[in-house]
Amino acid sequence: MPKAPIRVAVSGAAGKIAYNLLYRIASGEMLGKDQPVILQLLELPEMLPATKGVMMELEDCAYPSLAGMFMSADPNEGFKDAEICILLGSRPRGAGMDRASLLTVNGEIFAVHGKSIAESANPDVKVLVVGNPCNTNAYIARNAAKKVGRINAANIHSMLRLDYNRSLWQLSAKTGRPIESFRKLVVWGNHSDTMYSDYRHCESNGDAVEKLIGDASWKFDYFVPTIAKRGSVIIDARGGLSSAASAANAALNHVRDWVIGRDDWVTMGVPSDGSYGIEEGFIFGFPCECKNGNYKIVQGVEIDEFSRAKLDTSLNELRKEAATVKHLL
Ligand code: LMR
Repeated sequence: MPKAPIRVAVSGAAGKIAYNLLYRIASGEMLGKDQPVILQLLELPEMLPATKGVMMELEDCAYPSLAGMFMSADPNEGFKDAEICILLGSRPRGAGMDRASLLTVNGEIFAVHGKSIAESANPDVKVLVVGNPCNTNAYIARNAAKKVGRINAANIHSMLRLDYNRSLWQLSAKTGRPIESFRKLVVWGNHSDTMYSDYRHCESNGDAVEKLIGDASWKFDYFVPTIAKRGSVIIDARGGLSSAASAANAALNHVRDWVIGRDDWVTMGVPSDGSYGIEEGFIFGFPCECKNGNYKIVQGVEIDEFSRAKLDTSLNELRKEAATVKHLL
């Protein structure tokens, strides 16, 4: 018997990340080729003509798993009954900006979207915030959603998967081991320069990655800062344009693992339950395990002094970001 279609809402549907994401969702790469999807494309009114063009191209791909689609400028309509919402719609960062400086322009969008999702999406909806600064935007959306109730507020995530994927590539390039051999990698914290990519517990085919690398200074002098600053290095290299294809790929990976499951730790920005001394409610990159459509934060990872300081720095940054958007909470 054919599966019932899953409704996937995507905001910022005419943007660059969406252009790299929608076709992959429609082709079945995110939820499986045998899983029909209905795409609900949300955009600003002035972007609807461009969204129409994206829809025409989707039609022209003739994907068997695309069971339907529509566009809307009304969040309540765009998110209606959605089981998955991927929130791309926001102003992207340009050269010389940090992600937090987008808070004032983007924060409001996420207050509106969080409320609409809580009012009109499926009560079990899974929400991934990609628009930057994604942790605090997710925090804003979650606060707005909590006021309405109805949906599971633990299911509002932010995207650290791009940082996790970036870390995998760097580790593979350094050790010569295949990407898929790595396990137990974590990227802690905020998706900002304070994030902390941590391979202390990481293994490749049973070998400790710290031992394979040997050189501890590589971690502090190259690895951690390279991952943390990769987004701005890409913006500079692309003449002011932020990552789009890799961000879309990471969003797809995040949702796929969440829905389908994964036999390893994976980093997700999720609302803290107080684990690892991170104040409850802040959206923080944690090691997570995903099974049967649910996730849980991996417990018991040892935190050494250096790591404690990194986690605290990222948490303090999130506290400051939250204070900036107090009026939206
Ligand atoms: C990235 O990490 O590449 C994205 O979050 C875009 C940005 O502003 O850095």
